[in-house]
Amino acid sequence: MNVSHEENYKLELEGLDRKISRLNVSTRPEKDFVNDLIPPLDIEKTDGETHWELNKKSDGFSVESSGFPVAEFTELKEVSPDPVDGQNNGHWLRLIHKLADDSRVFGLGEKTGYLEKSGRSYEMWNRDTNGFYTHNEDPLYSSIPFYIVQEDGSCQTCNFLGVYLHQAERSKFNIKYGERPYGVGVTVSSPKTMLYLITGEEIKQVVKGYTRLTGKPLFPPKWALGYHHSKYGVPSDSNETLELAKEFRNREIPCDAIYFDIQHMDNKRVFTWDEDRFPEPESLIEKLHEMNYRVVNIVDPGVKEEEGYEIYDSGKESEVFVKDKEGDDYSGSVWPGFCVFPDFIREGVRDWWARQNGKILDQGVDGIWNDMNEPAIFFGKKQIKEIASELLDRFSDEDHLDFSCKNRLLNIGESSTNSMVHETDKGEKIDHGKVHNLYALYEAMATEQAFERKRPNKRPFILTRAGFPGIQKFAAKWTGDNSSTWEHMRMSVYMSLNLGMSGLPFVGPDIGGFDGDVEPELLTRWIQLGSVLPFFRNHSSLDTAPQEPWSYGEKYEKINRKYISLRYSLLPFLYTEFFRTHRSGVPIMRPLFMEFPGDEETYSVSDQFLLGNSMLVAPVLERNAERRLVYLPYEDGNRDISWLDWWTGDRLESGYNLLETALDVMPIFIREGKGIPYTEPVQHTEKLRNVLKIKINPGPGGKKEVSVPIYHDDGESKGYDRGNYFYGEFLIEEGGEGTAPELEVKHDGYEPFWTETEVINPG
Ligand code: GLC
Repeated sequence: MNVSHEENYKLELEGLDRKISRLNVSTRPEKDFVNDLIPPLDIEKTDGETHWELNKKSDGFSVESSGFPVAEFTELKEVSPDPVDGQNNGHWLRLIHKLADDSRVFGLGEKTGYLEKSGRSYEMWNRDTNGFYTHNEDPLYSSIPFYIVQEDGSCQTCNFLGVYLHQAERSKFNIKYGERPYGVGVTVSSPKTMLYLITGEEIKQVVKGYTRLTGKPLFPPKWALGYHHSKYGVPSDSNETLELAKEFRNREIPCDAIYFDIQHMDNKRVFTWDEDRFPEPESLIEKLHEMNYRVVNIVDPGVKEEEGYEIYDSGKESEVFVKDKEGDDYSGSVWPGFCVFPDFIREGVRDWWARQNGKILDQGVDGIWNDMNEPAIFFGKKQIKEIASELLDRFSDEDHLDFSCKNRLLNIGESSTNSMVHETDKGEKIDHGKVHNLYALYEAMATEQAFERKRPNKRPFILTRAGFPGIQKFAAKWTGDNSSTWEHMRMSVYMSLNLGMSGLPFVGPDIGGFDGDVEPELLTRWIQLGSVLPFFRNHSSLDTAPQEPWSYGEKYEKINRKYISLRYSLLPFLYTEFFRTHRSGVPIMRPLFMEFPGDEETYSVSDQFLLGNSMLVAPVLERNAERRLVYLPYEDGNRDISWLDWWTGDRLESGYNLLETALDVMPIFIREGKGIPYTEPVQHTEKLRNVLKIKINPGPGGKKEVSVPIYHDDGESKGYDRGNYFYGEFLIEEGGEGTAPELEVKHDGYEPFWTETEVINPG
């Protein structure tokens, strides 16, 4: 270990292996470095690697690996508290990670905007927005303090460097912004911090390294890859639920999951059902199961504060709720009115929460949707009382009811959690500021425990709004309350890509948009996009225009059906890629530069993406767009390759291409040398076809050998972890059209579902 004691700070550098090192920084040398509130990382121990070195510089320090510079830091100091932090503790630590002018910065999780992050500052603080978010809103629901720098030639073995700030407190990242255009300014609300440095020749290696640390993304049950349907307010009773379920089947629009938002509850009390509208939840769920649907229930962390309500009484008795500064149960208003909040950082509380979740799993619920888990609280009970009495006092002197008063009322939600005080298993009292960003992660761990107990051999499905590094092991994530606008659809591409690059690949937006009324064309274009996003759920808010795939007449319904069916055709491909992502951490949905780093142009394309390394998608993101400019990358930076149009079979060349995009066309291409396994569509993921088709692009003249990976298992158990799966690679040589391709079996632990294969070479 390298240690450096300076006058104002202390540093410790430790290599974990050749690619990853840990840097502890403290401006309070007497304090140790332990971040003991964050759940343990997947690798903590070092293998004694010694080629990492710390060097003092005149204006700071640098980190080297085998003699090559990896990163240089300057201006390390304590800074005065940030005014937006209501809980100012006076110990913000700041340092600048110096970067070359032409460097690029990516990552930082759930952020809007282009993929290259320079020129803005970003905050890490899990936050619900007021209603819905705008195009430059920050911070949003989850915090992933991890960025990736691309810097040519900074080191011989690495072009990319990942920096993971292993810190849950509020932090800020100024990316080549403001007075410091020469670096990333990292500020954290703590006198000490811990940074992990992850090097890689490729961006993929950095993401792999980051997920080795924080955990590989979960492998979902297959049904979770289907189309999911949801709306706040609908279905409002058992009949409506069954009608909805039948409608999909009658219209032959595939669907796997139906969601119950808070309207299903008895006065929004979590873990209950409204007895009049949903009198027999078990039998309703059973009927849905018979129709091959899965059921996902919303679970908010706020427990209605009401004696006689079983969950509240039980929590009160077991003392599971977060306290406030006076030692009372903290009370804050959410959907059901005033609520109390489980203190998930304690093991016993997670156990209690798992038992509550277990009750709805016993009723047959298949998936659990964790919402409002930032936690989002409209206002605190004591907080609103204090403000109200202060305002009343001030009314006598009306001059004082000024702008600051308006702001205080507007920001009431932002500061609602300030007075929360948590307690650890050891009985230590902890300010909410240290726990806030971890709250959803601990809730997800508790939810996972419920699945583990009730269905030990099944893969859980948890959907979360908030999160922190590690959440990828437990949950899929959606990007919160967006709007039914073209701008939001575009943003949903950037945000999903960004989350994937930040180690959280199972993501997607509310398809069709949450807030506001959707227009038919937008819904159709968004369903097209959703059909190839990792998580595909249509969701919208209370009392907004309908967003069912059939809501706007035959013209749109036909196209919506075509694309939802495409999703189901592509399941063999998507499932294979999800498995690969689970193993590697490399996201299934990738920016073009992740696969084509040598092609400079790819860095400025944020609105197209690849699935795995073989399929390119150029969603149509404009209204009335009869044409779309599509960029098809060059291999190795400049080598022209061909791209096969999924729909027409035409072969296009690298570079910009202007394509016709009638409403039923979303451009999709197969990369040269690749192939896509698929089947005829099915209505739900439980149905399998016995003919596996493989559409290939062997390049001009059919010269290239194509290899196509394929994975299969039972779709829902954890057996794959014990080897119960099939993994192979089809090898298709020149002129492979129609013939049974050679299949190289790599792992033979499960029976393939197909009995026939058909190679399609349209080019
Ligand atoms: C939040 C969620 C939204 C949900 C609503 C009601 O706004 O983000 O998805 O529909 O709460 O539960």
